[in-house]
Amino acid sequence: MYKEIIKKAIDAKAKSYSPYSKFSVGAAVITEDGVMYSGCNIENAAYTPTICAERTAIFKAISEGNRIIKKIAIIGSTKDTFPCGVCRQVIREFQSEDMEIIVANSLEDYKVFKLEELLPYSFGPDKLKKESD
Ligand code: THU
Repeated sequence: MYKEIIKKAIDAKAKSYSPYSKFSVGAAVITEDGVMYSGCNIENAAYTPTICAERTAIFKAISEGNRIIKKIAIIGSTKDTFPCGVCRQVIREFQSEDMEIIVANSLEDYKVFKLEELLPYSFGPDKLKKESD
């Protein structure tokens, strides 16, 4: 059930551009309509323009018009690479109600989380709504 998305993340990891950290990461998402997008981390000589694999994959989905993420898989260069704080917040913006975060080490070795576990008490789009709205 999770093998296809993990495979996509593994393939994306192979495309990582990470000459500075030498820490390659791959991610893949499945959107509400079943389309998969993948991404890798892309570093920069000026360091701060670096983007994580998760955000590459999510932004590819969003820019293709698919805004609801059902699943996201991540695989890094060390065991159990969890999404960074910035990526958790971006995942928060586009999550489906039952979204799953798959932290993978291989096709057979992975753990599945809910965003609530990784980003409790989060700030999201609903929080911008005032009572007067
Ligand atoms: N990185 C990701 O792509 N995703 C994460 O969740 C953790 C960190 C990247 C950023 C940078 O290129 C390298 O891993 C080391 O931090």
